[in-house]
Amino acid sequence: MTDVPVIAIDGPGGAGKGTVAQGVARRLGWHLLDSGSLYRITALAANRAGIDLENSPAVCAVARDLDVRFDEGGDGLRVILADEDVTDVIRSEQAGAAASVVARDSAVREALIARQRAFARPPGLVADGRDMGSVVFRDAKLKIFLTASVAERAQRRYKQLKDKGMNVSLPALSRDMEERDRRDSERAVAPLRATEDARVLDTTELDVQAVIQRVIDWAAEVYRV
Ligand code: C5P
Repeated sequence: MTDVPVIAIDGPGGAGKGTVAQGVARRLGWHLLDSGSLYRITALAANRAGIDLENSPAVCAVARDLDVRFDEGGDGLRVILADEDVTDVIRSEQAGAAASVVARDSAVREALIARQRAFARPPGLVADGRDMGSVVFRDAKLKIFLTASVAERAQRRYKQLKDKGMNVSLPALSRDMEERDRRDSERAVAPLRATEDARVLDTTELDVQAVIQRVIDWAAEVYRV
């Protein structure tokens, strides 16, 4: 599919995928794909256009025609939708929940595949999501499945949203995250699960730097970087 080395990182929300993927990409000087943002943006753009998220053909057209770009800023990747910076808007748990509704649709997933694969450019790609290892970069030689306890994941997400100045309640967030995990794991297409060739890493007791280091060590072993 591609000769470009890919590190596929999958797992449920709050397992640390985004932070780890960003840290690894920075250290290796590789490209970064935050695939979840594409589902979040699709849901946002559909909502703004007044489209019902269950209206498959209309949401699919939105996904295919997304006018989105990712700009490397000093504080990380900025997500720009039709010239508007939506980086923070798409991070809310509501945006995540809406993303997981459109993500159940196989036609929407199909519409986003080519866009995701286009991120695989030299010298390499670190991609995070739910189906990086199982579907989008099935041939990746390094697949990682990050997990953490539900309580720990909710805590991390809570802190992340609080740090962004968002008003969230921990019990409500835990409930929403569990509901989203259930939707992602039980859906018919590309359900969230570790592939047989994935290295599973429980990050509950690990700090983010330790996880980044573990991934870098695996990348050195697999890709000789
Ligand atoms: O990773 P993030 O929380 O941003 O993803 C938002 C939602 O998008 C997930 O809950 C999931 O439903 C969907 N998603 C997906 N496949 C991916 C990435 C995200 O279905 N590769």
